[in-house]
Amino acid sequence: MATIQLQGVSRRFGETAAVSDVSLETDRNEFLVLLGPSGCGKTTLLRMIAGLLPPSEGRILVDGKDVTALPPRERDLAMVFQNYALYPHLTVDRNLGFGLSVRRIPKEELRRRVNEVAELLDLGPLLRRRPKELSGGQRQRVALGRAMVRDPKAFLMDEPLSNLDAKLRSSTRTRLISLHRRLDTTFVYVTHDQIDAMTMATKVAVLNGGRIEQLGTPVEIYDEPASAFVAGFMGAPPMNLIPAELGTDADARLVLRAPGVEIPLPRTAGRDPGVREVLLGIRPEHLTPVAADHTGPALRGRVDIVENLGSEEIADCEIGDLRVSVRGARPIGLNPGDTATLAVRPDLVHLFSRQSGRRLEWLPEPENADSVLVS
Ligand SMILES: Nc1ncnc2c1ncn2[C@@H]1O[C@H](COP(=O)(O)OP(=O)(O)OP(=O)(O)O)[C@@H](O)[C@H]1O
Ligand SMILES: [Mg+2]
Repeated sequence: MATIQLQGVSRRFGETAAVSDVSLETDRNEFLVLLGPSGCGKTTLLRMIAGLLPPSEGRILVDGKDVTALPPRERDLAMVFQNYALYPHLTVDRNLGFGLSVRRIPKEELRRRVNEVAELLDLGPLLRRRPKELSGGQRQRVALGRAMVRDPKAFLMDEPLSNLDAKLRSSTRTRLISLHRRLDTTFVYVTHDQIDAMTMATKVAVLNGGRIEQLGTPVEIYDEPASAFVAGFMGAPPMNLIPAELGTDADARLVLRAPGVEIPLPRTAGRDPGVREVLLGIRPEHLTPVAADHTGPALRGRVDIVENLGSEEIADCEIGDLRVSVRGARPIGLNPGDTATLAVRPDLVHLFSRQSGRRLEWLPEPENADSVLVS
C-alpha cells in the first residue's frame, strides 16, 4: 500500500494548460477518483503519476519519496489504460500472466494468481482465446486482470469500465470495491462517470479545466458541492440551478426571490446582506409535487416530459424560461401538459455566488443565533 502526494503539479502542451497546480495527498488504502468532463486533464494527471509524462512543474511523491524523475518501471505502479493494449498474439491466459513471467515469478505462484484473477473477473471460459476473438468489454476485463495479477504499490486506472454494458459495469464495480478492500492497495481511478465516483471512491477530486474544483468524500461532494460546477456535474439529472436574489423581508429574515417564488430561509440576517445575486440550487429529489393550493414555498410551471426509469420517474418541467428536473418514486404524479406545483424545502436548498460560482456558506455569529453568508 502506498501514499501518493502531488505537490503543485502542472502540465502544459504548448498553449494548453492541461493540468494546473494540482496538489493532493492520498490516505493509506485510498480509492481516489479523478472525476471531470472530457478534456479536464484526468488522463494527463494519471500519466504523470505513472511516469509516462513529465510534469512542467511540481513534484510527485510515492510513500514520501520523490519519484518525479523516475521512469515508470521504478515506480511500481500498475496502470490500466483508457485504450487497453493487449498482446494480440498471446492468449488471454498468457496476457494475464505476462507481467509476472517477465518478473520471473515462480510458475505455481503465477498460475495461482492468474486463476484467482480469472475467477474474480469471470475470464475462466476465455483463457484460451486471443484478443481479436473477444468483445470490447471482454478485452477491457483482460486489461484490468493483467494489472490485477501484479502486486503493485498502487493501481492507476483510466476509465477501465467505459466499454462495459450497464450490467457488467455494475458487477465489475462491485468486484473492484471488494478487490480494493481485500488487497489493501491504493487506487487512483479516472472517470467521467459520477456513479463510478459515488459507489467506489473513498475520496473524489473533481477537476475542471485542469484544476481541482473540490476534493472530498463522495457524500461531501454530493451534499455540499463547493461550486455550481460540481453541483451541476454530480447527480443524474444534476442539481437544478435557478438564478435568484437573496434579500431580507420586513422582519429581517432572509428570503430568496426567484421569478414567481419566495423562499423564506430558516435564518435571520446577522448583518444586512443587501441584495445578492445568487444561484439557488435544488436537487431534483428535493422537489415534491403537491396540490395547487399548497401554501408553502413552491415553484409553479408546466410538465413537459416524464421519463420512466422503472422504480423512479424524472419529470422535466418548464418554470418560466427555466427548466427544472424533479425526481421521485414512480408514479411521481405528474403528466406531460399538467400544471405542476413543486414544493421546496428551504432547509435543503444550496446557494452559490452568481459571480464566482462558489458555494455560499453560513457562518454562525458567536454572539447571537444569527448568521452571515460567506463565499
Ligand atoms: N499530447 C498532447 N498534446 C497536446 N495536447 C494534449 C495532449 N494530451 C492532452 N492534451 C490536451 O490536454 C487537455 C487534457 O487532456 P486529457 O486527455 O488529460 O483529458 P481527459 O480529462 O482525460 O479527457 P477524456 O475524458 O476525454 O479522456 C485537453 O485539452 C487535451 O486536448
Ligand atoms: Mg482521458
